[in-house]
Order: sequence, then structure tokens, then C-alpha cells
Amino acid sequence: MTKIKKPFKKQPVKADKRPGKVTRRTVGGGSIDVPAPVLRAWQELSGIKDPAKATVNAAKFRQLWKVFTSGRERISPELLQDQGAAEAYITGFHLPNAARAALLCRRIAQRVGIAPGTKPGVGSGVRLGDWLGKYFTHQRIFDLGCGSGAWSQVWLSEVRLKRNAVHLIDVSPTLLEMAAKGIAYVRASMGREASLYVETVAKEIGKIDFTQFDASKDSQQGTEASDKSLDVYILGYVWNELIDDRAGRNRILARLDSCRTAKRSALLLLAEPATDEFAWDAMALRDELCAAGWVAIYPCPTGAQACPMLNARGGVRDWCFSEGGWRKPEEYMKLEEDTGIAHNKINAAMFALASPELARQLPKMAPSLSEQSQVVVGKPSVPGGRPGFEKGFSYLLCTAQGLVKTAPKRIEIKFAKPRGSTVSSVAAPVQPKGPERKSRGFVE
Ligand SMILES: C[S@@+](CC[C@H](N)C(=O)[O-])C[C@H]1O[C@@H](n2cnc3c(N)ncnc32)[C@H](O)[C@@H]1O
Repeated sequence: MTKIKKPFKKQPVKADKRPGKVTRRTVGGGSIDVPAPVLRAWQELSGIKDPAKATVNAAKFRQLWKVFTSGRERISPELLQDQGAAEAYITGFHLPNAARAALLCRRIAQRVGIAPGTKPGVGSGVRLGDWLGKYFTHQRIFDLGCGSGAWSQVWLSEVRLKRNAVHLIDVSPTLLEMAAKGIAYVRASMGREASLYVETVAKEIGKIDFTQFDASKDSQQGTEASDKSLDVYILGYVWNELIDDRAGRNRILARLDSCRTAKRSALLLLAEPATDEFAWDAMALRDELCAAGWVAIYPCPTGAQACPMLNARGGVRDWCFSEGGWRKPEEYMKLEEDTGIAHNKINAAMFALASPELARQLPKMAPSLSEQSQVVVGKPSVPGGRPGFEKGFSYLLCTAQGLVKTAPKRIEIKFAKPRGSTVSSVAAPVQPKGPERKSRGFVE
């Protein structure tokens, strides 16, 4: 275990504090911005501005991409150990990962009712930190399988409490080093009134003794304030990598369960690739935790109830994922052109869950969560159905009462609501009468 020494001024990489504007372009109706300090860290750590380095890293990124997309079970823990692979990883994967994290932050803000509806080019409106800061003074972030630390960097950019501890955990020391350097950029953008403690843990998750963090004074930062302390567990694209690692999964489940027994306020941020098997596995984890008292705050309007997409009666079994567009920097678009690998949209099966103790406080913290809401979880390929066919629908919505299909309505595809967005403007599902009921495609 390596501890990053305070103060942050001693970090080898100095954050560029210049307010220099980063040119970004909007694609795919994009409105998600990777926070500026995260973007600046990426520019420095990837070496993207050095043409020779960029070319080498682009070629290596292509090779990594092939491995990551041709069967995740083939990803070996050694793959990202060497410096070159880690630099290529950060070059190609860090920003889309950060964009996913930013999307989840935005969507949580919408679900808890602190952000206005999405408007292209507009940030989340209200920082999640302003909201959480009303109830918590401390946070401990556990970024499990952190890779280059994209998630904790974004979370920390959005949510800065008075005292913050970040525990970066991964098997790759090289990636851990980069992740910690990235955090230093976020640190540079934080006000003096906030404190930050960072530690890297180069270990397999299955071998982590989580109680060491509870014993650590730096991590606790004042146990007397534990009721004002929030734990944030991040599982970004790592649950699937533990599919054959029972010890790893069990260690995580046991730690999450300890939030219940120790009555700790905790949030779990879970993201997995948006394909059926990975999403079902993530949905099953969500259900398992909800059965134990956790409450899903995103995307699920069903809260603690079992996921209707996973267990839908009548054999409907779809997979839930979120989508959104993001504003990319020019350098990243150039990389996409050079490699032919484009991330035009963010797609990921993403969930945010509150521990039983945090859930207990939610009615006060986010009264609108329990209000009627509808989240888009599916869209037909032809919005409104194919002309001449009766059984069209515009959106498959998840509601507190289960899944509902909206009545067919022609919607311009480019204006269609993305999956995972809370909708109020689409026409409320109309219950057709009598024999028409089935033909309108309502889920019973
Ligand atoms: C696909 S990457 C995701 C990185 C990061 N969470 C993100 O979303 O940006 C998965 C990471 O998990 C790490 N990892 C895989 N298995 C692990 C294990 N058993 N213990 C610790 N880290 C692990 C890998 O080294 C890799 O950095």
C-alpha cells in the first residue's frame, strides 16, 4: 500500500492552473462535459499534445481496444502493468470513462431533483456536492479497480466536502500512479478549505482488508463526525472482471453489507458495459442489494423493488442501460479519426444505490425521489413503430408501478429522449380501453 504524502504541492506532476479554454465539440446531441481539471490531467498524462507520443499511444490503444472488445474474460491483470500500456490506456479509455462518470453524476442530480432537465451544452446546473454538502462534511471514496482513476477524479470534481479521502485500489501500480497524479489536478482546483487525503493500494480486491481503512485516522478524518460522513463505493467496469473471482466479489459484497450492519451512509456507483450479459449481471447485483435494504436512486423509479426488466412477468427480459452524448475535446476527436475508434455516445449499464442508512435520510434529502417519475429504459428502432403496424410505442418507461409502454407517437429520432433520462414531457401513458389494450403494446 502506498500513501500519497501531503501536501499535494510535492506531487511530481504540477497541475496546469491556467484557466485555458479547452476546445470541445458536441457530438451525438452531447451535453456531458468531462470536468476541466480531469481533462487537463488527461492532456498531460497521456502526452496527447506531443505528436510522436500520440502516434505511438494511438497504435497501442488500438491493440488494447481489440483485447477489451474481443472478450473481457481474456483481459489479464498483467495487461496494464507496463508504463507504455498504461499510457495508451489513459490516452484512449480515460475520457470515455470520465464521461460515463459525469453522465451518472448528472443523472443522479436529475433524479434527486436538484438539476434542471438536460439542455445541450449546459452543465448539471447544481453541483451534487452542494446537495450532499448540506448533509455530510466528510467523504471516503473507494475506487475499486480504479484503473486511471477517471471515476474518482470526476466524483471529486463534482462533490467536494470539507474532508475527503480517496482510496484508489487496483492491481496495476502503473495505473495507480497515474490515477493519483490525475487526482492532484483535481486537488489543484479545490478550495483551501477542503482537505484531501489520497492513498493507492496495489492489491487484488479479494485480498483487501477493508477494516484497515476504518482503522486509518487519515481515512476516517474524525470519527466523531461519522453521522456526517459518506462512503462512496465505485465499481466502474470492474464487476465483470471479477466474474471468476469469487473472493473479489465476496469481499465487495461483505463490505457493502457492513454498511448496513454499521449503519453507514454509503453510495454505490456501478457501471458496466451496455451489453445484455453484463447489464443483467449488474441488474442482479442491484436486486441483491435492494433485497438487503439498499435503495436504487438511479435510474430506477422502483427504488428498493426488484427490477421489473430483470424479473418481468410474461417473459419480458430486457436489459437496462443509460445513454448520453458528450462534448469531446479536439485532441480526442483527432485520436478517434486516427484509430477509427469512435465513442459517439456514452452507453453503459449504470446504477446508483443508497445504503439502508442513507436511504433512511432520503425522504428529507430528496423528497422528489419518491414522487411519480418515469425513466426511459427502452426505445423502438423506429420511434412510434413502423408505419402501417399497430403495435408501435415511443418509449418503454420504468415507473414505480413497473414497465409501461407509451402510446405510439412519431418522434424525430435525433430529439428522442436518451435511455436513463427522467421524462416529464412525453405524454403520460394512456391506458386504452377494452380489446384495444393489447394492441397498443402495454406491458401487463
Ligand atoms: C476496465 S478497467 C476500469 C477502470 C476504471 N474503473 C474505470 O472505469 O475507468 C478495470 C480495472 O480493474 C482492475 N482490476 C481487475 N481485476 C482486479 C482485481 N481483482 N483487483 C483489483 N483491480 C482489478 C484492472 O487492473 C483495471 O485497471
